[in-house]
Amino acid sequence: TGKFTYDPGFLSTAACQSKITYIDGDKGELLYRGYPIEQLATQCDFLETCYLLLNGELPNATQKTEFNGLVTRHTMVNEQMQFFLRGFRRDAHPMAVMTGLVGALSAFYHDSTDINNPQHREISAIRLIAKMPTLVAMAYKYGIGQPYIYPKNDLSYSANFMRMMFATPCEEYVPNDVLTRAIDRIFILHADHEQNASTSTVRLCGSSGTNPFAAIAAGVACLWGPAHGGANEAALNMLEDVQKMGGVEKIGEFIKQVKDKNSNVKLMGFGHRVYKNYDPRAKLMRETCHEVLGALGKTNDPILKLAMELEKIALEDEYFVARKLYPNVDFYSGIVQRAIGIPVSLFTAIFALARTVGWIAQLNEMIGDPEYKIGRPRQLYNGASKRDVVALDKR
Ligand code: CMC
Repeated sequence: TGKFTYDPGFLSTAACQSKITYIDGDKGELLYRGYPIEQLATQCDFLETCYLLLNGELPNATQKTEFNGLVTRHTMVNEQMQFFLRGFRRDAHPMAVMTGLVGALSAFYHDSTDINNPQHREISAIRLIAKMPTLVAMAYKYGIGQPYIYPKNDLSYSANFMRMMFATPCEEYVPNDVLTRAIDRIFILHADHEQNASTSTVRLCGSSGTNPFAAIAAGVACLWGPAHGGANEAALNMLEDVQKMGGVEKIGEFIKQVKDKNSNVKLMGFGHRVYKNYDPRAKLMRETCHEVLGALGKTNDPILKLAMELEKIALEDEYFVARKLYPNVDFYSGIVQRAIGIPVSLFTAIFALARTVGWIAQLNEMIGDPEYKIGRPRQLYNGASKRDVVALDKR
């Protein structure tokens, strides 16, 4: 009809203006509020990054202490959540559980239901950032049949998460600085990524004025897919499959399948809608991968060797070169998480934990925008023209 622009997949439509995250896909550059991801990942911790994304500036020492204190005060979840969790099958996928748990938070906080009220959004933001590690760890413990470990507030955000994951009532978790830093870096690298599918979902969902926790639950649901957050799980499963096929020797055969358009096999952890050069997060993740495997004495890990060889071969292959397909953050993040002892099925839930702050920052920005309206895409109708119903006995 020519009245609307048709742009499937939003390849050339800007749905909003934003001051939060900048990506230069040709240069392989990622900035949060103007700061390069490389500097944030090496000089700041995750909670400073959260403060930055939410407020536009890095905190000074006093602001940092106050913010950490505020988040720490909200790490526990209502005890009733345990009963809700108990309704799930033990073998439920953690992302199915997380979609439910985050949505369920909306039933607990009757003092902050109005997404258009800045104070309601502020307290919901703190609650979400504080409770996500507790919820992810609870989903994990439930799945393996172990008791939940309550948060311990004298630990850092990431150390507390590791303890809730790996301590048991009979054995304290011994923190390891390299592993805690690695998980903190995973959180920083996943904290925001401008208008990706889950963030756009959160904006669209929030634009109807829904409950703040419900909007974030929508983001969790969207993130689950293998083309988005589920890619870290899919990438590691793929590496393990190639390893089972025969490992490094079989890379050629596997790449052949990937290039065969009828096979539906993709090189998971490769390619990105925006990065047409290296994904800067993948470089940092690869560095962390070597640090973690080094600290654990696992530098001979066959999966790491396979990943590096696969990357090398793919980067020299005409198919990948022509399509500008490079490793993305998910290619190495799975290897790091697996080495830490995190099960593959939990990878995307950890991504959701980290991305929560980005979703909230984007939601706040949208609602603060004077031009903000409910999101309502149009369509080009190409169905049947107007017609009359034929009586049932005549059809
Ligand atoms: N393996 C093999 N071929 C690929 C891949 C891949 N991983 N990615 C893209 N291609 C091909 C695709 O088949 C197409 O080929 P042709 O032009 O011959 O039809 C061409 O490259 C362009 O790809 P596209 O699908 O049009 O690109 P897109 O921007 O729509 O998709 C993507 C981007 C990330 C969904 C896609 O690259 C992909 O599915 N990658 C694997 C999944 C993955 O790693 N996702 C994580 C993204 S980063 C984390 C996040 O954002 O959540």
